[in-house]
Amino acid sequence: MIRLSLIGIGTGNPDHVTLAAVRALNTADLILLPRKGEGKSDLVDLRRLLCRNLLNASSQARVVEFDLPQRDSRNDYLGAVDDWHDAIAAVWADLMDTHLPAGGRVGMLVWGDPSLYDSSLRIAARLGAAGRAVEVDVVPGITSLQVLTAAHQIPLNALAEPVLITTGRRLRERGWPEEATRVAVMLDSGGAFEALPPEGLYIWWGAYLGMDKQCLLDGPLAEAGPQITARRAALRAQHGWIMDIYLLARRPR
Ligand SMILES: C[S@@+](CC[C@H](N)C(=O)[O-])C[C@H]1O[C@@H](n2cnc3c(N)ncnc32)[C@H](O)[C@@H]1O
Repeated sequence: MIRLSLIGIGTGNPDHVTLAAVRALNTADLILLPRKGEGKSDLVDLRRLLCRNLLNASSQARVVEFDLPQRDSRNDYLGAVDDWHDAIAAVWADLMDTHLPAGGRVGMLVWGDPSLYDSSLRIAARLGAAGRAVEVDVVPGITSLQVLTAAHQIPLNALAEPVLITTGRRLRERGWPEEATRVAVMLDSGGAFEALPPEGLYIWWGAYLGMDKQCLLDGPLAEAGPQITARRAALRAQHGWIMDIYLLARRPR
């Protein structure tokens, strides 16, 4: 039997790792540490640093790094993601067979929290569906959305209003979601907000949240939008990669 803990580690600030995450890391027999490529070596370094700093002397955990398979870039996005998840599940299964043939506790480091735009839970479910004896638990982590609102010192929702969370791709394709007053946008490969008529919209933007190079901008979209686009391009060129997230509000603050 494998006990798989999906451990949310926050989004770049080691101080955001919870005591529950530290306990889960320290009771694991095997810690799997994904390397994602895309030149984001800072993120792998951070995961390594967490393991180095948080594992205590009595930990039996063996830390194993692995390369995530690449996702097919074909047009059928959902089909490509489905195949990609199968490939990742196969890599996890191989690693478990190799390093824990008699079973044990596996800790998987998950960026932010496993519930938010992360497929670890879906991939773990595939192990069970393939007939493996795997019991999964989740250790919640601080999400990029929480770090964004904390950094800007704003509530996520307007008073008594809902919030919609979406992706850059979807915002670009479908425009402003009808009836939404606040929209949080993740996984934007660049400036999906440029497709919106900016009148009456306010934006709070953050890149590299929680890290030393954290960068924040906010303002009415008409003025802040072009500034964010320029800053994003400059930061990306400087660091070789970028991760950013933003919250849009339909009414001014
Ligand atoms: C695959 S999702 C993972 C989200 C993660 N599970 C969470 O709880 O935040 C990656 C997206 O999260 C956002 N993100 C994650 N970490 C971030 C950070 N440190 N700064 C800004 N955005 C971040 C970006 O929108 C990025 O494209």
